[in-house]
Amino acid sequence: MNQRFVVRRVGRRDLDRILEIEAASFGADAYDRNLFAEYTHKCGGLFLVAELGTKVCAYSIAAISPGRPGKRAELISMAVAPAFRRKGAASALMDSTLRRLRRRGVARIALMVKVTNQRARDFYAKYGFRKLRRVAGYYEDGADGLSLAKDLGQKVGQAGYPLGPPANS
Ligand SMILES: CC(C)(COP(=O)(O)OP(=O)(O)OC[C@H]1O[C@@H](n2cnc3c(N)ncnc32)[C@H](O)[C@@H]1OP(=O)(O)O)[C@@H](O)C(=O)NCCC(=O)NCCS
Repeated sequence: MNQRFVVRRVGRRDLDRILEIEAASFGADAYDRNLFAEYTHKCGGLFLVAELGTKVCAYSIAAISPGRPGKRAELISMAVAPAFRRKGAASALMDSTLRRLRRRGVARIALMVKVTNQRARDFYAKYGFRKLRRVAGYYEDGADGLSLAKDLGQKVGQAGYPLGPPANS
């Protein structure tokens, strides 16, 4: 059953807990502290955590692609602490990320997922991500990656910017 996760922007105080979630989720492939610290600076309001009470249960990081403002974004990473999976934490993060990207006028979000990561593939399929291509040997362990994307229902103008009112945040 889905629980009431509160989604908010990451803070420096969250990094220890995020590293725990990361190690439990990705093992040898886990990102390190320096990379997360860099993302807190670079990704600002698109590096999010989901809390239940005061416990951080999950994180996600998205970034708007440089050089094409307002057009495309990438989901860099997402993970839920094992004890909190299948309770709607990733959905709460994805819903918030998609809302934030639409507000910024982003027209498409893309990501890469390991071909063997079936639960993540099921999750992204539920959100309507579609397969763009398979990238042989993308991961360090030699596994292939699947490049997925989802259109956010915003028309892109000739200059590459969305049509309609400007983003307000
Ligand atoms: C993939 C992951 C982020 C999903 O997080 P979650 O909080 O468990 O997902 P949710 O509870 O929001 O699930 C939403 C939907 O995704 C799909 N889904 C999620 N986990 C699934 C699983 N284990 N098996 C099948 N479908 C699954 C289901 O459609 C689910 O809806 P339902 O519960 O109503 O059937 C989580 O399993 C995780 O952190 N995995 C390890 C890290 C990882 O692989 N990250 C993605 C890297 S690309």
